[in-house]
Amino acid sequence: MYRQIIRFFLICLAGLIVVSPFASHAEDNTARITIISVYDNYQVNPRLDTAWGFACVIKMPAETLLFDTGGNPETLLSNMRKMDIPPESIDKVVISHIHGDHLGGLGGFLDRNPDVTVFIPQSLPDSTRDMISRKGAEFIDISSEREISASVYTTGELYGPPEEQSLVIDAQKGLIVITGCAHPGIVDIVKKAREFLKKNEVYLVMGGFHHPPVSVVKKFREIGVEKVAPSHCTGDRVRNAFASAYKEDFIEYGVGRTITQSIFYKIVKP
Ligand SMILES: [Fe+2]
Repeated sequence: MYRQIIRFFLICLAGLIVVSPFASHAEDNTARITIISVYDNYQVNPRLDTAWGFACVIKMPAETLLFDTGGNPETLLSNMRKMDIPPESIDKVVISHIHGDHLGGLGGFLDRNPDVTVFIPQSLPDSTRDMISRKGAEFIDISSEREISASVYTTGELYGPPEEQSLVIDAQKGLIVITGCAHPGIVDIVKKAREFLKKNEVYLVMGGFHHPPVSVVKKFREIGVEKVAPSHCTGDRVRNAFASAYKEDFIEYGVGRTITQSIFYKIVKP
């Protein structure tokens, strides 16, 4: 009898070690990061609505980020609801650039959750800062590269026109570069990311590539981009060229797509 009870407790303990994220962090020093497309003109999950624009949610163990807000808050919030992402779960918002298909959902989002910090390109007009403050949220102007959250960085404002910031995740398999529209040039953004993080391995480049010439596929190979997930303003011709060149390393990206990767887990000491 006692032996059975002890056995039962040992099985429960083993189960806890397997399911507890903290136990797994302690063992392998990594954590999961999940990128979820909540706004795009390409569709992966037919339950979600498409509209011209871009937004994705980045879930990490300690914080959840919203990168861009699409063109309208109704579509953004409805898609987030369908993906079980409450607006209140977002801690930080990053806006890539001034265009309405990236900034348009911000006001309506802040109506639902003003308890966030919004990282905006420094070049944005004061009317955007006024709107953010009026809704009760905080903003931080971004000019150069910096950390936004653990393992997540901004490239800083790069010139397009217009000025635009992109996100870079320092993942275990290499860098993940996420671009809203890539007005400063997708290849230059990737090079900038490698430069300031002093890492050559680029695991994935995803988001809007701003309809580059088809030769971008060759350039991506030259700089060693392992996987691609182009969407939004990339253009069908270039997207198809990536699909046939990258084959299984092409990720069909659009609203509803979820990408999960490992990041090195940083132990934050109190
Ligand atoms: Fe765009």
